[in-house]
Amino acid sequence: MSFYTIEPAQARLNRSELAVPGSQPQLFEKAAKSDVDVIFLDMEDAVAPDDKEQARKNIIEALNDIDWGTKTMSIRINGLDTHYMYRDVVDVVEQAGSRLDLIMIPKVGTAADVYAIDMLVTQIEDAKGLKKRIGFEHIIETALGMQNVHEIAAASKRNESLHFGVADYAASTRARTTVIGGVNPDYAVLTDAATDGSRDTHWGDMWHYALARMVVAARANGLRPVDGPFGDFNDADGYIAAAKRAAVLGCEGKWAIHPSQIALANQVMSPSDAEVDKANRILKAMEQAAAEGKGAVSLDGRLIDYASIRQAEVLVEKAKQIANN
Ligand code: GLV
Ligand code: MG
Repeated sequence: MSFYTIEPAQARLNRSELAVPGSQPQLFEKAAKSDVDVIFLDMEDAVAPDDKEQARKNIIEALNDIDWGTKTMSIRINGLDTHYMYRDVVDVVEQAGSRLDLIMIPKVGTAADVYAIDMLVTQIEDAKGLKKRIGFEHIIETALGMQNVHEIAAASKRNESLHFGVADYAASTRARTTVIGGVNPDYAVLTDAATDGSRDTHWGDMWHYALARMVVAARANGLRPVDGPFGDFNDADGYIAAAKRAAVLGCEGKWAIHPSQIALANQVMSPSDAEVDKANRILKAMEQAAAEGKGAVSLDGRLIDYASIRQAEVLVEKAKQIANN
C-alpha cells in the first residue's frame, strides 16, 4: 500500500438513484414510498426554463413537508453557466437545508467549479447554523469534466460520488448514439473469416473507457462511482445488462429515470446471498490461515490471500448496510 491514505466518503447505500423532475410534484409521494436508496429532485435538464422557479419552490416545500423516511435526499442544481444556479443553491439550502443530504452538480468541468459551490454552501450552512454537512455528487458528462475528473474528485471534502452522465457526455464528445446509455452496432469488431468463410460481429461497450476512467478517479479519492441513465425504460434486459457491466467495473449504483428501474438497480447492485456466504467463508479461512502463520490458503480449489480478505470485507460491509437499511 502507498503511505498515502484515501479517506472514504461518508458511507451511504447508493445502489439506485431516482431522478424526479421538480416540476412534477405529483411524483414526489410515490418516490418517497419507493425502495430507492437516493432521490434527486431535479431543477436542471428535466425542467423547462419557464418552470424552473416553480420547480425550485416545489422542491423546497416537498423537502420540508413530505416524509422521505430514511432516504438520502439530493437536489440537482442547474449548471454554473446559468443564472438559475445561485438561487437553486441559496434558496433550497437556506429554506430546506436540514433535510438535504447531497447536492448534485451537473456538467462539472473543473475543480474550480466545485470550489465555487463549496464556498457558497459553506457560507449558507454557517449562516443558518446547519449542523449536518451537505455532500456533493458530481455528474461527469462533458469532455472537460472527463479530462479533469481526477482534480474534480479531489476538489472538496464534501465530495461523495461521481456519476457518469452518458447522455450529455455523448453530446459533448459527439459520440454517435441514439438511445441514452445504449450501445451502437458500429462500435464492434469483425472477426477474421473462419475456415468456412463466416465472420462474426462482436459488439463492444462504447462507454467502457469513460466509465472505467471515472471509476478510477472516484475510488482513488474514496468516492462512490455511480452509472447514469438508461433511457429506454421498456427495455429491462438492456437496463440490467448496462447495470451489470457498470457493477463489474466497480460502480456501486445506477440511476433510475423511471420507477420500474429501481428494483433492477437494487438487484444488480446488491451482493447475492451466495456471494456474501462465500465472502464470509473467505474471512473465516483467512482467520484460520493467520492463526496457523500462513499468508495464503486454498478455498474451493482456488488460491485466496490478503487481497481476498479486503474484497470479502467490502462485500460483507455492503451486505450489512443493506440489511440495516
Ligand atoms: C445525465 O444528466 C446525462 O446527461 O446523462
Ligand atoms: Mg446531463
